[in-house]
Amino acid sequence: QKNEKPETNQKLDDLYMNTEDGSGQAMTTNQGLKINDDQNSLTAGERGPTLMEDFHFREKMTHFDHERIPERIVHARGAGAHGYFESYGDWSKITKAGFLGEKGKRTPVFTRFSTVAGFKGSTDLARDVRGFAVKFYTEEGNYDLVGNNMPVFFIQDAMKFPDLVHAVKPEQHNEIPQAASAHDTFWDFISLMPESMHMIMWAMSDRALPRSFSMMEGFGVHTFRFINTEGKSSFVKFHWKPLAGTYSVTWDEAVKISGQDPDFHRRDLWNAIDSGNFPEWELGVQIVAEEDEHKFDFDLLDPTKLIPEELVPVKLIGKMVLDANPTNFFAETEQIAFHPGHLVPGIDFSNDPLLQGRLFSYTDTQLSRLGGPNFNEIPINRPIAPVHNNQRGGIMRQTINVGHTSYHPNKIGGGCPFQAKMAEGGYVSHQEKIEGYKIRKRSKSFMDHFSQATLFFESQTPVEQDHIVEALRFELGKVKSEDIRERMVGMLSYVNKDLAKKVAEGLGIDPNTKPEDPLNHSYPADADPKDYQPTQS
Ligand code: HEM
Repeated sequence: QKNEKPETNQKLDDLYMNTEDGSGQAMTTNQGLKINDDQNSLTAGERGPTLMEDFHFREKMTHFDHERIPERIVHARGAGAHGYFESYGDWSKITKAGFLGEKGKRTPVFTRFSTVAGFKGSTDLARDVRGFAVKFYTEEGNYDLVGNNMPVFFIQDAMKFPDLVHAVKPEQHNEIPQAASAHDTFWDFISLMPESMHMIMWAMSDRALPRSFSMMEGFGVHTFRFINTEGKSSFVKFHWKPLAGTYSVTWDEAVKISGQDPDFHRRDLWNAIDSGNFPEWELGVQIVAEEDEHKFDFDLLDPTKLIPEELVPVKLIGKMVLDANPTNFFAETEQIAFHPGHLVPGIDFSNDPLLQGRLFSYTDTQLSRLGGPNFNEIPINRPIAPVHNNQRGGIMRQTINVGHTSYHPNKIGGGCPFQAKMAEGGYVSHQEKIEGYKIRKRSKSFMDHFSQATLFFESQTPVEQDHIVEALRFELGKVKSEDIRERMVGMLSYVNKDLAKKVAEGLGIDPNTKPEDPLNHSYPADADPKDYQPTQS
């Protein structure tokens, strides 16, 4: 069914101030000087050399020479759209976040979907995780929910992220393959990383081949915190549920579509919005009371685990509608800068060690991707909430700060924010008691790497299980090293014996061949091997 024409919203109005429309206008230089010929360089004589003084040529060429910026180190390929989020109610009993504080309250959003491993120009239908990042332009500042279409992740600690990405990206000597995990370095790493096994089940499942961005679920992955108006905290996991339902394509379809239309998902999103069929998702939360933190047989801080919905049901708290395509891909979709640390009062982090590391990485990468410390001023990134602080200068500064002071504390005024105002509704981190030794050692509560992998595999229908088997046969079939394939079969045998057997048969490996100890890798020297044994056989 067709929705109504998109309404504008506060963020779209804000962006409008930066738009430019040259249609029907005279061409000018960047200085506003009208140009009378844009096709011929200024030369000495009709057949002579181009003159250095040709400022128009120099300006045009210089801008062109610099019009690319680095693609994102991961999630380079993506597509995005504007829209709004509407709260289903007043949720102040669980969070004091203003955008969730009133039934029907609408907040502008920009959402970017992406693949993870491929380059900016790679195919949409690669077997991969999909990014699902939403920037809420709330009245209390920008809130970013930077999630994926799978509820868990490959690793438990941010320290391993550069290794994971080096392993999955094209191999360093020949830059092959461009957008796929089917190669030795990826499976070498995975076969040494038991904690990745749950995510591998998802990544080898149909979830890695979505039919459309609008038919994908989204997940915040980590456990976050909600803080209510009384200051009480609970743990929360975020879910996006597509109203169109969750659908995938088969591998055979994915391969054919990739050949025919590498822009399949981008085009689908664009056309859906263009024709008024606005994609919609409901936002759901799983809430766990603080006192129940330890009642699960996994650790809430472990990003390789999900909370089964049978244990904690998902409560739907609002809806997101994407109803406007970007005006300019580069200005909006490419320059948007998400960060899991962009929070509003009422939402806070947990101590998930993967999340903690992400908090450093995003700003750090954006400093080089977007060229310096002022990328928050780029129109798509600037909040609709007012910005006042003592940050000054830096390359490409746009804001013209008035007055003569830029320090705190300050009693003479003169342009600098007012101290007494800071206490009123300012963000306060949740007070959590922390005690312990400074130590590089993961808690034992993170050590069951297989139960949920098994749960996921065994929850699939026989057809879906076959797809996982076929995906693993295909992927591992591309791996040159016999050792890696054997280690993987050994690892899979801890997930499900039948799965391991079928994969082994497909690879022509004796299903009983198992490396001596497929689990004895990547662990600290003082580890107790019994901590790494699966809880289910
Ligand atoms: C993008 C780092 C884990 C979701 C990125 C970028 C970096 C990064 C550097 C590029 C950002 C940019 O250029 O603007 C990390 C690190 C991780 C991690 C260090 C683990 C330690 C995750 C997880 C999720 C996730 C667990 C999902 C919950 C995304 C998404 C994007 C992204 C959706 C693309 C955002 C966009 O559309 O611009 N990540 N990431 N990442 N990451 Fe992560």
